[in-house]
Amino acid sequence: MTVPTHTIVQISDTHIVEEGKLLHDKVDTTANLLASFGAVEELGTAKAVVLTGDLADTADAAAYQRLRGHVDEFTERTGLPVLYMMGNHDERAAFRAGLLDAEGTEPYDYSRTIDGLRVIVMDSTVPGHHHGEFSGEQLAWLKNELATPAPAGTVFALHHPPMPSPLPIMEDLGFREPEKLAEVLRGTDVKIVVSGHAHHAAAGVLAGIPVWISGANAYTQDVLAGPDRIRGIVGAACTRIDVYPETATATSVPVGVSDTVYEGSISDMMAMAAEYSH
Ligand SMILES: [Fe+2]
Ligand SMILES: [Fe+2]
Repeated sequence: MTVPTHTIVQISDTHIVEEGKLLHDKVDTTANLLASFGAVEELGTAKAVVLTGDLADTADAAAYQRLRGHVDEFTERTGLPVLYMMGNHDERAAFRAGLLDAEGTEPYDYSRTIDGLRVIVMDSTVPGHHHGEFSGEQLAWLKNELATPAPAGTVFALHHPPMPSPLPIMEDLGFREPEKLAEVLRGTDVKIVVSGHAHHAAAGVLAGIPVWISGANAYTQDVLAGPDRIRGIVGAACTRIDVYPETATATSVPVGVSDTVYEGSISDMMAMAAEYSH
C-alpha cells in the first residue's frame, strides 16, 4: 500500500505564449514549464506527464510550436510520454495542427495505457465558449471505454473541474451537468479525476471518486479576493499523482521555488530523528 504502482505528473494551464512575450506582461510561462520538466527529471520515477489544457494562451501557432519543441526535447531526453489535452484557451484545429500534425475540429478524446495504468484524456471544451461540458456522444464513448477495466485502474483527466468552485466566476465558466459524468464514472475502475482550469489547487468528490484541481503552471487564482473581485497572483504549481492498488493521491508541488530550508539523505534524516526521540 505504501509504494505507488504508478506515478505521473500533471502540469496544467501552461498558457504558453510566443517567444519574447510574457503572459499578462508578467509571467514567463515557458520558464515555469521547464522548471516542472526539471522537477519530473529529478524525481526520476514518473511514468508519464499529462498537460491538462489551456496549453497555449491564445491558441496561436507560434505558441504551440514553442511548446512542442520543449515537449519533444523532454521526451527525447527522458523517454517519458507527454499527453496533450484541450482547454478552453485552445482551439481544436490549431491544437491538432501545432501539436499533432493532424486536422479536425471534433473533440480530442483518447485513452492511453501506460504499464497497465489507463489514462483517459477528454476534451471538455465548447468551441467559442469558456465553460465546459461533454456531449452525449462523448459520454457514450467514455462509458464504452470504461466497460473494460484496466490492470492498474484509470486516471481520468478533463480540463474543467466537475465540482463546485469557491470562485463566483466559475458559475459561468465551469463544467455543466457534472451529474451526467458522475453517472458514467460511478462503479468503474477510475481511481481519481484530475482537472485544471481554476488555477488553484483544490479537492472534491464525484460519484465517490476523488476529484483534483491542479494548481496552474501559469499563475494562481486568489480564492480569497472577495465575492465581486478576481485576482491572479504570482505562483505556479504542478501535481504529482500517485496510483496505488486500492487508491490514488494527488500532491501539489510548487514550481520555481529554489530556496531550500533543509536537504539531506533519508538515512541522515532518520538518524537525526532517532537522536531527537531520546
Ligand atoms: Fe487556464
Ligand atoms: Fe481554462
